[in-house]
Amino acid sequence: MVTVAGLTAEHLVDPLGLDVAAPRLSWRVTGTRRQVSYRLRVAGDRVWDSGRVVSGQSVDVAYGGPPLEPEDRCTWQVEVEDETGARALSQVARFERMPVEWTGTWICLPPPTDAHDGNRPCVHVRTVVELAVEVTAARLHVTGGGLVEPWLNAARVGDDRLAPGWTDYAQRVRCRSFDVTSALARGRNALGAVIGDGWYAGRIGWEGQRAHYGRIPVARLELVAHLADGSVVRVGSDHTWRARFGPVRAGDLLAGERYDARDALPGWSEASYDDAGWEQAWPDHGPAGELVATVCEPVRALREVPGVVRPGRSGSWIVDLGEVVGGWPRLTVRGEAGQIVRLRCAEALEADGSLHTANLRGAQCTDEVVLAGGELTWEPTTTYRGFRYVEVTGVEPLTLSGVVAATDARPTGEFNCSAELLNAVWQNVRRTVRANTIGLPTDCVQRDERLGWLADAETGFASATYLYDLGSFWGGWLQEVRGAQSEQGAFPDVAPRLVHLADGAPGWGDAGVLLPWALWEWYADRRLLEASVASMVRWPLWVLAANPDHRWRERRGHDFGDWLAPDQTAPNDVVAQAYWARSSAVAAEASRVVGRLDPTLEALAVQVREAFVQDHVDATGRVSDGSQTGQLLALAFDLLPERLRAGAQRHLVESVEAAGLRTGFLGTRHLLPALTAAGRVDLAYRLALAQEPPSWGHMVRSGATTVWERWDGWTAEAGFANPYMNSLCHVSLGSVAEWLHATVGGLARDPAAPGWTQAVVHPQPGGGVTDGRTSYDSRHGRWAVDWALDGAELRVDLDVPAGCSARVHLPGSGLSGFAGVEVLGPDAVRVGPGAWSLTSRQEKPLR
Ligand code: BGC
Repeated sequence: MVTVAGLTAEHLVDPLGLDVAAPRLSWRVTGTRRQVSYRLRVAGDRVWDSGRVVSGQSVDVAYGGPPLEPEDRCTWQVEVEDETGARALSQVARFERMPVEWTGTWICLPPPTDAHDGNRPCVHVRTVVELAVEVTAARLHVTGGGLVEPWLNAARVGDDRLAPGWTDYAQRVRCRSFDVTSALARGRNALGAVIGDGWYAGRIGWEGQRAHYGRIPVARLELVAHLADGSVVRVGSDHTWRARFGPVRAGDLLAGERYDARDALPGWSEASYDDAGWEQAWPDHGPAGELVATVCEPVRALREVPGVVRPGRSGSWIVDLGEVVGGWPRLTVRGEAGQIVRLRCAEALEADGSLHTANLRGAQCTDEVVLAGGELTWEPTTTYRGFRYVEVTGVEPLTLSGVVAATDARPTGEFNCSAELLNAVWQNVRRTVRANTIGLPTDCVQRDERLGWLADAETGFASATYLYDLGSFWGGWLQEVRGAQSEQGAFPDVAPRLVHLADGAPGWGDAGVLLPWALWEWYADRRLLEASVASMVRWPLWVLAANPDHRWRERRGHDFGDWLAPDQTAPNDVVAQAYWARSSAVAAEASRVVGRLDPTLEALAVQVREAFVQDHVDATGRVSDGSQTGQLLALAFDLLPERLRAGAQRHLVESVEAAGLRTGFLGTRHLLPALTAAGRVDLAYRLALAQEPPSWGHMVRSGATTVWERWDGWTAEAGFANPYMNSLCHVSLGSVAEWLHATVGGLARDPAAPGWTQAVVHPQPGGGVTDGRTSYDSRHGRWAVDWALDGAELRVDLDVPAGCSARVHLPGSGLSGFAGVEVLGPDAVRVGPGAWSLTSRQEKPLR
C-alpha cells in the first residue's frame, strides 16, 4: 500500500507568507513501493493541474501554474501512483503569498528622555477595527525592527517568540503572516502589538554597543479581512494608532528584563478598553531592508523543565533545572505589592554553591519582577540565555521552571547505543544545538556574544543537521552570509556582519563557500545552490587577489587558526592554505553542478593544492610538524596525491597513539572520521570513550549537560578555565555527533547522491559497544539502523524510505545468497525501500 503525507511548500507546513512566485512543493510517500507518477492540483486564487507526471520526484517539485501574485491564497493536493498502479491522494494543504504593498507605516514610541541602558520600556500599540459584516477570511501580516508580539482581541496572535529575528535589517526584514479569521468578529476588534528592542535596537556583542540598526524599535502590521459581502478591509499600522509604555520597563537580550506588574495593562487588547490616556503612535521611516518572508519555522517555547528550589546563601534560593537550557525562566510567586524578585541565571555553580557568572562577561542574564500583590506567574518576552541555575532573591518562588526556546525545526535524528557515555555525549550535543538554533546559528547562549560565527556553524553543520530539519534555517542564514560579503568578495567572521569585525579568517570566511555546499549535499536544494554560487566563487578569488603566488599569507583577518586546540596544533599557514585549497575546489565543483563551469577556478584549486603539498607535506605524507589538525585537513580536504595518503594516515595514527586528542575547533570535526577511514576505528572509540581531558567524556563526567567551548572548561585541578572564553554551551566540539550517527549508529549520507536519496549503512562496532541504533527522518522519509553484536554475529535491521536505496557494508564474508539484494562486493550490498534484516557472521568476535 502507498500513502502520502507530510505536505510542505518551500519546506514549511501550510505557509501563509511566502515571497516566491513558484513555491517548491514536497510530500512524503510511505510504504515499500516506488512512486512512479504524481499529479498536483492547486486551487484558489491560482489554479493549476500538473496532469499525471511520470516521475519519482517527491521533494522540491516546483509549482508550475500561473505565477503567484502577492496575497494569493491557494490550496493544493497531490495524488501519487506506485509501480503496482495503486494510488494515494493526500490531504489538502495550503500556501499563500505575503503582500508587497503594505498600506500603513512603521510605528513606534521613542523611549523616555531619561532612557538609558536599564530603562528602555516595551511599547504597546493598538487600534480598533470596525467590521460591518462577518469575516470570511483574514490574515495579519507582521514585521518589525526589534521584537514584535501581535495581539488581537485579548489574545496573542500565533506563538512566535523573539520575532521577527535577527537579520541585517538594512538589507532585509522578515515578516510573518497569520490566519486570524476566527479571531475577528463583526463589530469592534482590537488589534495591537508589543514592541521591544531585540537585535535591532538592543545590545549585541561584547562591546556593549546598542542600536546597531536603529535607535527606536518599530513595528509594522497589516490586517487584510475579506468580508461576507465581498469587500476587503485593510488596516495598516499608522499614526492613528494609540501607544504607551507597558509593564516591561526594560528588555534586553543580554541584560535581561525588568517587569513591573503594577504597570500591567489589563484589558489593553480588548475593543472596549479606554485608551484615551495613551499617546499617538509615532510614524517612523523604519529599517531600509526589503520585506521578505520568514523562511524557516519561528522561535517557539518548546518545552518546560521544572526546577528544584533549595535555599541558597544569604537568604536567596537556588533553582536547579538539572540541565543547561537555552530560553528563560518561568516563575510563579506570591508577595506584596512593590516587592522585588530578582532572578540571576548561570550555567554553573562555584564550589561554594554561588552562581558562576564570570563567563557571562558583560551579559547580566538577570530579570527583575516588581510584584503587584498576590500571586503572579511570569516569564520574560524580550530576552533569552543559556542557563541551568537561577538564583532568586527577594521572595521565595512557589515554582520556577526553564522554558526551552529555539527555532522550532522538526527533530529528525535519534541515536542510542550500549555505551551510556556516548549516549550522554549525544544528548549534550542535542541540547547544545537546540540552544544555539535561535533564528540563526549562534556560537554560544550565555555571554555577551551569541553571534553567527561562520566556522562554528560549518564545523557543527552535519551534527546539527542530523538532529533537526534545518534546511530552511541554514538557507535563511546563508542570505545573511551572502549579504555580509564585502564588495571585494570577502565573507565575514560573523553574519550578520558586525562592523568592528574584520574580513573572515581562514576557516571562518571559507565557511561562506563550504556551508552552501554542505547544504547542497544534504538536501540537494538546487535553488539554494544556484543562489549561492556567485558569492562562493568570489571568495577564493578574493584570497587570490591578495596572494597572487598561491600562498595565503596576506589578508587572513583575525587568523584564528585551529581555535582553542590544546597545543601542538597546525600552524596557521597550514590551516589557511588547506582551507583555501578546499574552498577553491568546492566553488569550482558548485559551479560545475549549476552548469557554470569555470576553468580558472578549477586551475586555481589545483595550484593552491599543489602549493600546499609543496610547502607543507614531506615525502612520507607528514604535514608540516605532524600536527593532528594538519594531517586531518590534508586528508579530509583531499589535498594529497594518492601516494601520500597512507603515509598521512599513518602519521595521524601515530600522533594520536602518542599524544591522544590534540585538536581544536577545525581539526576535531575530522578526527574520529579520519581515524575510522584509516582503519583505526578502535582508536576513534578510544578517544570517544576517554574520560580525561581533553575529551567529551571528561565533560560528561564533570556533570556537563551541554558541550563546552573548551576541552578544559572545568578541571578538578584548575576549576573553571579562563572565564573570558569559557562557554559551557558551545556548538563546535559537538561535531562529534556526526561520527556517532555515521559510525556507531552506522547511518550516513551517501556522498554519491546529494539529498539523502541514498545512504551508506556501515555500523562499525568497537570500544566494547555491543549494539547501536540511529534514525534520520529525511525529507524523503525515515531511515533507521538498529544493530547488535552477538559473538561472531552482527545483525543489522534497517529501514529504507520509499524511493531510496542503501549501500550496506557488513564486514567479513557471509553476504551472498540474500534474496532481493544486489551484491556489490564481498562485504557490501545494495537494498531498496522497506525493512531489512541482515546478518553477517565473522570469523572472530567483533568487539
Ligand atoms: C566565539 C567562537 C568563534 C571565535 C573565533 C569566539 O569568541 O565564541 O566560537 O568562532 O570567537 O575564534
